Amino acid sequence: MRRAAVVAAVGALVAGFAVYGSAQAQEDPARDASGATAASLREAAAASGTFVGTAINDGLLSNPTYANIAASEFSSVTAENAMKWDTTEPSRGNFNFSGGDRLVDFANRNLHQVYGHTLVWHSQLPGWVQNGGFNAEQLNQVMVDHIDAVAGHFSGELAYWDVVNEVFNDDGSMRQSVFQTTIGTEYIANAFRAADAADPWANLCINDYNVEGINAKSDALYDLVSSLLDQGVPIDCVGLQSHLILGQVPGDLQENMQRFADLGLEVIITELDIRMDLPADSGKLAQQAEDYAEVVTACMNVPACEGITVWGISDRDSWVPGVFPGQGAACVWDESYQPKPAYDGMLTAFGG
Ligand code: G3I
Repeated sequence: MRRAAVVAAVGALVAGFAVYGSAQAQEDPARDASGATAASLREAAAASGTFVGTAINDGLLSNPTYANIAASEFSSVTAENAMKWDTTEPSRGNFNFSGGDRLVDFANRNLHQVYGHTLVWHSQLPGWVQNGGFNAEQLNQVMVDHIDAVAGHFSGELAYWDVVNEVFNDDGSMRQSVFQTTIGTEYIANAFRAADAADPWANLCINDYNVEGINAKSDALYDLVSSLLDQGVPIDCVGLQSHLILGQVPGDLQENMQRFADLGLEVIITELDIRMDLPADSGKLAQQAEDYAEVVTACMNVPACEGITVWGISDRDSWVPGVFPGQGAACVWDESYQPKPAYDGMLTAFGG
């Protein structure tokens, strides 16, 4: 809860700044006909005390349409790739913060909070770490040094950090990352302690996918965070990535969020997108609008759910088609940056 007051203050500012209302949203006849009163997702979300964010590819901020939607519709931005290890420390001790700094600058100019993603992850991990042949003590030092430099660089600028990302297999066993196999599970507690020392301001999260419903993996996550809390490890939040499939929002999403909230943690929907088999059609898009609304409603029903980040603005920029051939249309804006029915679904569910 360390940054809660700051985030709330930003939310209040956001709600009061008509200039940040989206011209695009106001011109949308469908939205006018719906009777929605909020001019943007960020206004609607702020009015209900939550943030609404998007992942940003900072290379696309030079596209005015992209930048305008990012600025006007969202109150939080996450670096899609720019704060990951392969970008920030491509070789040992050589740091590159240019993309992250651009994002922080964009966020400060548009009254966004910044969500840091991610300090320790098995993917987008440079070869010098993955294949460095370090022993446990050495790798732990490499990890702590990385956290110290990266979280230290951005200290005071970020509302959240995903300290560790995707530490589990889907069956709830520990993913056999180089950190797990070399250091053991204690690398997770070590990472949180290092992040807390480097940035005492950010809320510190553990983030994963396929943990939205109650299942073996979310049970393992629950057990792990319970144990971290028992050990006094500085953990503040759980991120449910929420890369979902059309028509398959887990019915127990709210119940699952609530059990983490009951541990005293914040819960964040960190990477929401809802993919479908292509081509999209009006029936699928209507279902997608219901699905997005269902996720927002579940978050709104859990006071500890502080916000929702969608993973990218438009279908044009989404990671989905590259990884799931034949699937896509997962975002809230289409390939031409026009809002889809999912936009109204989210807006209405936020109370707009
Ligand atoms: O930067 C290189 C560029 O130099 C090279 O020319 C180009 C050629 O393919 O690749 C570029 O790197 C790509 C990188 O995105 C930056 O654009 C990688 O190939 C590509 O694999 C990478 O994809 C990212 C993916 O994480 C990597 O796992 C996606 O953009 C990003 O949306 C995705 O995000 C993850 C979250 O971090 C964690 N949760 C799952 C989520 C979706 O996979």
